[in-house]
Amino acid sequence: MTAEDLAGRVAVVTGAARGIGQAIAQALIAHGAWVAMWDVDTSAVEQAAHALGAAAWPCGVDVTHAEAVHTAIRGVVDRFGGLHILVNNAGICPMTPFEQISEPEWERVLAVNLKGAFLCCQAALPFLRDAGPRGRIINISSVAGQMGGVSVGVHYAASKAGLIGLTKALAHRLAPYGVTVNCIAPGTTATEMTAAWPREDLERAWARIPLGRLAQPDEIAAAVCYLASDQAAFITGATLDINGGLYLR
Ligand SMILES: NC(=O)c1ccc[n+]([C@@H]2O[C@H](COP(=O)([O-])OP(=O)(O)OC[C@H]3O[C@@H](n4cnc5c(N)ncnc54)[C@H](O)[C@@H]3O)[C@@H](O)[C@H]2O)c1
Repeated sequence: MTAEDLAGRVAVVTGAARGIGQAIAQALIAHGAWVAMWDVDTSAVEQAAHALGAAAWPCGVDVTHAEAVHTAIRGVVDRFGGLHILVNNAGICPMTPFEQISEPEWERVLAVNLKGAFLCCQAALPFLRDAGPRGRIINISSVAGQMGGVSVGVHYAASKAGLIGLTKALAHRLAPYGVTVNCIAPGTTATEMTAAWPREDLERAWARIPLGRLAQPDEIAAAVCYLASDQAAFITGATLDINGGLYLR
């Protein structure tokens, strides 16, 4: 890919203040896109966007709030004149054992990881349809959504499996417009999310990876840029596994 591949495209990346989301925003900008960086942590996303220059536009958005999401989408379209790429990346990953998951915690995880993507897709839909064959939705799922995970909470795994279903369902519905909808399922990635894991959980995850290391956020971001590009226009409803060969074992 070249620095011009996404020139003139407008993207929204949720959960962009740090980690994988920040890397995605940075990579999209490096390929020529304008990027609205959303995060519930307003000051952190403002700082992250400042570091990426004029093509980054930060906004404090909690993806679980329908009205905030709709207002923010409208703000993006008013500012940039359209929307081509939506990356649903915001997520939380409690490690609570199954027996101890409270109903509010279950609902919070599903709200951020799955309902948030639903709300963003629904608000973005008319503008993505207008974008036609340049329209893209890219959902950040997880290996946990594919195979249940090992240390992460079952609510997290359920929400990430739900994202894969949402991806396929929307891929069907948006195909007539040329808009593609895909998922990326990263394996354990070196971010603040996993840095907060108990050491034994991180070591257990690491030990299962044939390539012998964690993913780096920019490796996930590179796949997002590919799926957002014209070269990937015939890929839809897919889940791209980026996990160092985890399923080989
Ligand atoms: N790190 C991994 O090993 C890994 C593996 C597979 C999938 N993922 C997924 O990738 C995505 C990014 O993970 P990460 O490791 O960069 O996480 P992270 O915790 O470092 O960053 C997540 C970001 O999402 C934001 N966020 C949380 N709730 C939000 C909300 N309600 N509205 C808007 N923003 C919100 C946080 O403030 C934070 O900036 C997540 O969806 C995660 O589940 C991560």
